[in-house]
Amino acid sequence: PKAQKANQKSQNGLQPVASYKFAILGAAGGIGQPLALLIKMSPLVSALNLYDIANVKGVAADLSHCNTPSQVQDFTGASELGNCLKGVNVVVIPAGVPRKPGMTRDDLFNINANIVKTLVEAVADNCPDAFIHIISNPVNSTVPIAAEVLKQKGVYDPKKLFGVTTLDVVRANTFVAQKKNLKLIDVDVPVVGGHAGTEVVEAKAGAGSATLSMAYAAARFVESSLRALDGDGDVYECSFVQSDLTDLPFFASRIKLGRKGIEALIPSDLSGLSEYEEKALEALKPELKASIEKGIAFVQKQP
Ligand code: NAI
Repeated sequence: PKAQKANQKSQNGLQPVASYKFAILGAAGGIGQPLALLIKMSPLVSALNLYDIANVKGVAADLSHCNTPSQVQDFTGASELGNCLKGVNVVVIPAGVPRKPGMTRDDLFNINANIVKTLVEAVADNCPDAFIHIISNPVNSTVPIAAEVLKQKGVYDPKKLFGVTTLDVVRANTFVAQKKNLKLIDVDVPVVGGHAGTEVVEAKAGAGSATLSMAYAAARFVESSLRALDGDGDVYECSFVQSDLTDLPFFASRIKLGRKGIEALIPSDLSGLSEYEEKALEALKPELKASIEKGIAFVQKQP
C-alpha cells in the first residue's frame, strides 16, 4: 500500500517520504559525523545541512554520495550559519569540546557555554520554530543557557527545547538486559534526573568521550522528533526539559512528543520509586540545581 510505495520511492532516491529540513551544528566532530550518516539514512529528511567551524566540506561531499533522498549541504564558519539554519525544522547541537580524563562536566562549562550561546542566538534569528536538541555538555547547564538566550530573543518555546539524554536510556537498556539476561526488545528503562557518565571517557584515554553510541542515541531522538512532527501520535522519549515534575525548573523524564513539541511530561516514572531510587533522586537534586543556576547566571550576567 501507500507506505510501501513511499518506501520504494525513497529507496529509488526519487523523493523522500517526508520533507523535513535538518541541521547539525558541529557536524565535523566525533558525534556530528556518525550522526550525519545515520540521519542521511532517514526517509523523513529532505535537506541535511551540516555546519562546523572547519573540515565540514569533505564530510558533506563524502555523505552526498550515499544514494538516499536527502540533499546534503555544507556551511563553514559564522558567515554561513544563518543560511544553514533558514527553514530548518530540527536542529541538533553537538558543537563544543568533549571531556578528557580528569575533567568534570563543569570543567567544560566555560568553553561550551559560549559556543552554545552563540549558536542558539543564530537559531533564534533564523529558525525560531525549530525543535532544538542540545548535546553539548554539560547538558544540565547548556539547556538552561539555551532557554535564557531564546527568552532574551523573545522566541522561547519550552515545548521545543530538549537536552539529549537518550544515551542514558540506551545505556540503561543495554546494561539491564545484560545483567538480567533479558531480550533487548523487552527492556525500556526511563532515566530521570539530569545527565552524567565516565566509562567511555576513561576507556578512550584522552581521545574524547562517547561518539558512536551518542550518535546512535541522538539519531533515535531525532527520528522520534521527526515522527512526532509527521503526526505519529505515539512517540515517547526521555529528555532534559523545562519541567514542573519536581521543584527544579529543568528535569529529565519521559515526555510525549507531538507536532508542536512536548505534549505532556510523564509523571508516573517518579511515583512508586524504591527507597534506593528515592535516595538517588534526592542526592542528585542539589548538584542539578547548581548546574541549572550556573547556566542561567552565565547568560544573565552578560552585558
Ligand atoms: P569533537 O571535538 O569531536 O567535535 C566537536 C565539533 O564541534 C568539532 O568538529 C568542532 O570543530 C565543532 N565546534 C567547535 N566550536 C564550534 C562552533 N563555535 N560552532 C560550530 N562547531 C563548533 O567532540 P564530540 O566528541 O563530537 O563531542 C561534542 C559534545 O558532545 C561535547 O561537548 C561532549 O561533551 C558532548 N557529549 C554529550 C553527550 C550527551 O549524552 N549529551 C555524550 C557524549 C558527548
